[in-house]
Amino acid sequence: MDKNILVLSNISKSYMQGSESISIFDNFNLTVNKGEFISITGPSGSGKTTLLNLIGLIDSIDEGEILLNAKIISSQSSEKKSEVRRNNFGFIYQNYNLFDNFSAIENITLPLILRGEAKDAASEKADKLMGIFDISHRKFHFPNSLSGGEQQRVAIARALINKPDIVIADEPTGNLDHENSLNVFKYLIDYIESEKMTLVMATHNQEWANKSDRRIDLS
Ligand SMILES: Nc1ncnc2c1ncn2[C@@H]1O[C@H](COP(=O)(O)OP(=O)(O)OP(=O)(O)O)[C@@H](O)[C@H]1O
Ligand SMILES: [Mg+2]
Repeated sequence: MDKNILVLSNISKSYMQGSESISIFDNFNLTVNKGEFISITGPSGSGKTTLLNLIGLIDSIDEGEILLNAKIISSQSSEKKSEVRRNNFGFIYQNYNLFDNFSAIENITLPLILRGEAKDAASEKADKLMGIFDISHRKFHFPNSLSGGEQQRVAIARALINKPDIVIADEPTGNLDHENSLNVFKYLIDYIESEKMTLVMATHNQEWANKSDRRIDLS
């Protein structure tokens, strides 16, 4: 249970803003245990999204190392990084980021199809998840005909369908009203816990941060 799944070792990251280099992380360390729910908090601009992008290999570190399951993933080729992103991470964003021209079930099966899984097997898994997230009645709907809460439950199902080692969520309920946000958070957390998945979530929501196993405050 306390096995290290993710290690950030002395990572540094700066951005050029005009002619100035702004340091966002300077020798930052973090170890995440398998099955842990980590919340990342801090004011706007403190680096929460940057940290998630570095962990998810969407952005690259300047110095240090990132290890997943004891293997260095931060200095791989971009092809290998894409493979790690596809196979080991699930991403959930504030704006859902669903594909407008794909139905709910097509959005959810996409990660499996991209991995070469047969359509029938992928649809079966998607059906099961749609039941768990209570969106089965929206199976063939397109994103623009779904409510915000439904869109986010589709996006969560898509992020979790390939049973990623680590789920990376950036303000996953930030666009929802209080009631919907509670509802979506509960579906997400219940499933993550039942599947013993690891979750790293950036949030302004103190209620969610308080429910995490550990809070990393970047302020
Ligand atoms: N691609 C980039 N180029 C230059 N600066 C960037 C880039 N991405 C982020 N930054 C800067 O890095 C800092 C951290 O940004 P980041 O988006 O990580 O903050 P955040 O904590 O997620 O904020 P919010 O709560 O508003 O989402 C900010 O000062 C931002 O302007
Ligand atoms: Mg952010």
